[in-house]
Amino acid sequence: MKEDALRDKIPILDDMTARFLYAQVKIKKPKRILEIGFGGGYSTLWMALGNPQAEITSIEKNRERFEKGQEKLKTLPYNINLLFEDARVFLKDLDGRFDFVFIDAVKSQYLNYFQSIENKLNPGSVVFADNIFYRGKLFEEDMSPKKRKEVMKLKEFIKRLNENKKFETLFLPVGDGLSMSLYQGEES
Ligand SMILES: C[S@@+](CC[C@H](N)C(=O)[O-])C[C@H]1O[C@@H](n2cnc3c(N)ncnc32)[C@H](O)[C@@H]1O
Repeated sequence: MKEDALRDKIPILDDMTARFLYAQVKIKKPKRILEIGFGGGYSTLWMALGNPQAEITSIEKNRERFEKGQEKLKTLPYNINLLFEDARVFLKDLDGRFDFVFIDAVKSQYLNYFQSIENKLNPGSVVFADNIFYRGKLFEEDMSPKKRKEVMKLKEFIKRLNENKKFETLFLPVGDGLSMSLYQGEES
């Protein structure tokens, strides 16, 4: 899957993040996993390996990636439900609750995704978001207006995570930066 993704120029998790995510799934043994951004399915597979019993829902809005993903998943012995959807629309009406969420799509949309899944978690559930350091751009000044806008949105996401008392959030120097937010339940 890694080779296919690299050949098709689909960005994937770096090795450290893949291993870390795998270990987290293996330790926590979540029953229901949600992934936003299937890409070539590399991260999906790492999570499935962490807990082969988990029910994984993964969302992908690119038709070609979705169709290739469907073909690949047929050959694998895991319970992975790949959906062809735009997460911004789909998550608003999504039913059910998740124990483990991995966000890896458009960085400027992270806050949007997070707000949509906040009320679909059980206490003790965990939400990860990848690339929160944005290859160092988070700390740079000199960039194009488009990039600046993306960075502003990412900073806003990080600020909101820090302020959100329903979650205990760690910003980990894993790969390109990984946030890990543990849902503690509603504030009393
Ligand atoms: C970085 S790639 C995912 C890589 C994958 N998680 C991995 O490591 O193997 C991001 C993917 O998110 C998809 N994506 C972007 N915005 C999306 C949205 N709003 N809803 C669903 N998928 C989206 C893109 O099409 C792309 O394939």
